[in-house]
Amino acid sequence: MTDNAEISRVGVVGCGVMGAGLAEISAKAGLDVLVAVTSTTSEQAGRKRIERSLANAVAKGKLGEDERDSLLERITFTTDIGDFADRQLVVEAVTEHEPTKLKIFSQLDAVLEDDEAILATNTSSLSIMRIARATERPGQVIGTHFFNPVPVLPLVEVVGSLLTEQSAHDRLAAFLTDVLGKEVVRAPDRSGFVVNALLVPFLMAAMRMVESGFAAAADIDRGMTLGCAHPMGPLRLADLIGLDTLHAVATEMYEEHKEPLHAPPPLLARMVDGGLLGKKSGRGFYDYR
Ligand code: 3HC
Repeated sequence: MTDNAEISRVGVVGCGVMGAGLAEISAKAGLDVLVAVTSTTSEQAGRKRIERSLANAVAKGKLGEDERDSLLERITFTTDIGDFADRQLVVEAVTEHEPTKLKIFSQLDAVLEDDEAILATNTSSLSIMRIARATERPGQVIGTHFFNPVPVLPLVEVVGSLLTEQSAHDRLAAFLTDVLGKEVVRAPDRSGFVVNALLVPFLMAAMRMVESGFAAAADIDRGMTLGCAHPMGPLRLADLIGLDTLHAVATEMYEEHKEPLHAPPPLLARMVDGGLLGKKSGRGFYDYR
């Protein structure tokens, strides 16, 4: 594989909020997409996510019905990562849990036949270096931090480790811009990268305001949407991202930087303990049921 135009077979590991978005945009770009899931139940949930997002795109006139149907035909599912042997690019998008990611990367390493296949991880806080070292090909391992909702937001942070080969970095960045139509920012292999280094302290501060009774969630959000033109306030955004994901990201960032502004407040931990994970579970700072 020498050229981005040759990346036509993409694998996506996981079909949650981020994986579904990745499968959608890859299929929209005309690529053959294979999605690895852990069960038929997660396949069904993943399909539903993709179909809901596409229905939104069709309703808004962004996608024709024929285009939607052919896009869906380009996405297939498997519960066996062994089926990824012929993939030229794999983007892993499972939960922000390092042991799970390490296991997947070790499996991918054993399975992928193309020595130049790129192994990307959609993390926002874990060390790309540690993930790369789970493989025998750290030069081909790279971080791609997409933003939710993936089909709508243009940014991808691309994060190389000290061992990532420049050619892999350049090939992936060109693929993201030329094939997927994304905008790329190069970010350092430091927990939080660029965007979350700024966003996470903001979101944690909003949660602390709720926790201390300083202000109500709806007032904080109205303040930031009406006063600062943010598309959504910090607490609704936290619900969209997923409170479990945010808790994991903030914890990891705090571990690495020891910056108190990154530390997740106890309220966030309790909400996660209680299964209040935001929009995806039906309840977070707001009720979606
Ligand atoms: N494909 C293509 N376009 C689509 C689409 C799809 N599947 N689904 C929706 N769209 C388009 C719509 O047509 C619309 O375009 P238009 O403005 O030209 O009409 C646009 O996307 C917005 O969609 P909706 O109208 O359905 O939704 P809203 O206007 O209510 O916006 C939102 C919703 C996009 C979520 C907006 O509120 C927003 O941008 N919020 C901020 C989200 C954000 O900050 N995300 C980053 C989170 S941080 C993160 O992910 C990193 C992690 O590590 C923490």
